[in-house]
Amino acid sequence: MKIPFFNQKKEEGPQEEFDLTNVPNHIAIIMDGNGRWAKKKGLPRIAGHKAGMDVVKDTVEVAVKYNIQTLTLFAFSTENWKRPKQEVEYLLKLPKEFLHTYLPGLMKNNVRIEIIGDIESLPVHTKEAIQYAKEKTKDNDGLLLNFALNYGSRHEILEAIKLIMEDIDNQKFTLEQLDEKLLSKYLYTNGLSDPDLLIRTSGEQRLSNFLLWQLAYTEFWFTDVLWPDFNEEIFVEALLEYQNRSRRFGGI
Ligand code: FPP
Repeated sequence: MKIPFFNQKKEEGPQEEFDLTNVPNHIAIIMDGNGRWAKKKGLPRIAGHKAGMDVVKDTVEVAVKYNIQTLTLFAFSTENWKRPKQEVEYLLKLPKEFLHTYLPGLMKNNVRIEIIGDIESLPVHTKEAIQYAKEKTKDNDGLLLNFALNYGSRHEILEAIKLIMEDIDNQKFTLEQLDEKLLSKYLYTNGLSDPDLLIRTSGEQRLSNFLLWQLAYTEFWFTDVLWPDFNEEIFVEALLEYQNRSRRFGGI
């Protein structure tokens, strides 16, 4: 199925069509550049995060429009605790604010919310907001919107190893039976397909401890655009580039 896609330069030619049959099932995004965006505008860093939050809502709508099944967004990393207290507090209030503002729209769009990360160490108000949203959206079967909150990939893998060793000790399975598939079940992403496409904004080209195991065969796409300026046109640029990639998974 093909749909016309957003094209700001309409006057330059006929509307192009977008092939909806070859979109990534699962897109992961490192939403970077909020601070720099705010600085450029002479605003406090938290204004950048607020603008970034609104772009999350727009991005979800675009993902729904283009039939993406899963969108995983890096909203707060285990390393983000190193930021000034006021900024950390603000970042951890954002899930609640986001859900308070946008949950009705997400429901209308049939979006299901999930969280990956070390949820237990989050403030109570953050945990309550995400629990509520998870419960409220659990029967939706459209886009899966997966927030990585207090997420760090090395921590995730380390915790998986500990649980695996416990289960081997308890004779749930043997060391010989442990394979990649079984290990994957111990990660926060259990049940999810690996991302097909990773997008990172703001010109940085690194993984920052995000989904190290799950991104083994993912296509990477980087843009200099700062997260609060991310929009449908740039999203479609990434999708079109993805459609031109040849994925061989180590084969030929
Ligand atoms: C990186 O930009 C961004 C973050 C650490 C936070 C990302 C969070 C959002 C986009 C909003 C989250 C919204 C919800 C709904 C939870 P940076 O601050 O590192 O930017 P900089 O590198 O320019 O300083």
